[in-house]
Amino acid sequence: MKAYRISHGGKIDGLRLEDIVERPLEPYEVRVKVRAVSLNYRDLMVANGAYPVKIDIPVIPCSDGAGDVIAVGSMVSRVQPGDRVAASFFPDWFEGRPAQAKVRSALGGDVDGMLAEEVTLHEETLVKIPDQLSYVEASTLPCAGVTAWNAIFESSDVWPGDTVLLLGTGGVSILGLQMAKAAGLRAIITSSSDEKLVQARALGADETINYRTTPEWQDEVLRLTGGEGVDVVLEVGGQGTITRSVASTAVGGSIAVIGGVSGFGGEVNPFSLALSARRMVGIYVGSRAMLEQTVKLVAGAGIKPVVDRVFPFAEAKEAYRYLESGAHFGKVVIELTQ
Ligand SMILES: NC(=O)c1ccc[n+]([C@@H]2O[C@H](COP(=O)([O-])OP(=O)(O)OC[C@H]3O[C@@H](n4cnc5c(N)ncnc54)[C@H](OP(=O)(O)O)[C@@H]3O)[C@@H](O)[C@H]2O)c1
Repeated sequence: MKAYRISHGGKIDGLRLEDIVERPLEPYEVRVKVRAVSLNYRDLMVANGAYPVKIDIPVIPCSDGAGDVIAVGSMVSRVQPGDRVAASFFPDWFEGRPAQAKVRSALGGDVDGMLAEEVTLHEETLVKIPDQLSYVEASTLPCAGVTAWNAIFESSDVWPGDTVLLLGTGGVSILGLQMAKAAGLRAIITSSSDEKLVQARALGADETINYRTTPEWQDEVLRLTGGEGVDVVLEVGGQGTITRSVASTAVGGSIAVIGGVSGFGGEVNPFSLALSARRMVGIYVGSRAMLEQTVKLVAGAGIKPVVDRVFPFAEAKEAYRYLESGAHFGKVVIELTQ
């Protein structure tokens, strides 16, 4: 079977398609024929050497994939051949709060990931996906979907009718928008592109702000919320946005600190939190239980994860480059058809 491998910092051109000889399954292992793999900003960070990994050998990249179980080890009981499955981002975080041992490795970072024709995973890593989700759609959920779920529904205190702020129109933000609307939240979203904001409106966004033409967008967020601010912000921007995100948040609201598409860093005066009882909470994807909840919401509410472009397996480098361009709205997926 064929799989891509990449060295941390090997750049997109360093993605190599290799023939890999598969080993026999251990008793609790499962072989999955991969049907679709979605890309995350993190996969670019691995390629560019900007992601904190503890190994220096090449790995199969990408955390997010979905496919079919084709073989199981002698002791496997969670799944059987023919099941449609997605893999959880952290193979050791099943439920509850995170802990060092639970987040010590992640697919496509410290251990082999999903960008392969077939993968071998422990049965505990897998979550079944319902028929109403295509493989392409299901492949968007393990990192981007779970991160948005965790930020909105697990790590913040929001109720139907509350307001969520999404930054930009990448994978986490658009899945966050779709889930927020399904849960009865009011959604404000920003983008550098008016065209993308029109697309966001079509998905249910209540208010839109172009952060290029409105650089002081936090003032507009406050205006749109009657001076109150939002109940939770999915802070994916980092250095260029964190201070404005805090200023956009209501007294008692949450800033879910997720990423740094404008650079990792930034300054926040702690007393701007203390004197407003705002909470900053770090989000690190999430557990298998959160993936199960995310799948349940997406399938149950009939959410169709927005997939901007699908590339064939042979064009994985082009898919990476397209994600890097920032032209996408929602997710970029690589599909395996053989
Ligand atoms: N902590 C975690 O567990 C976790 C999990 C997932 C992702 N992340 C992080 O979250 C971030 C987003 O990941 P992703 O996979 O959703 O990325 P993505 O799909 O590549 O999204 C990139 C989008 O970010 C927007 N953007 C760029 N600069 C911006 C700015 N200054 N202000 C607002 N938006 C800006 C752009 O949207 P427009 O084109 O609309 O302007 C761009 O298309 C990354 O930093 C990633 O590392 C962290």
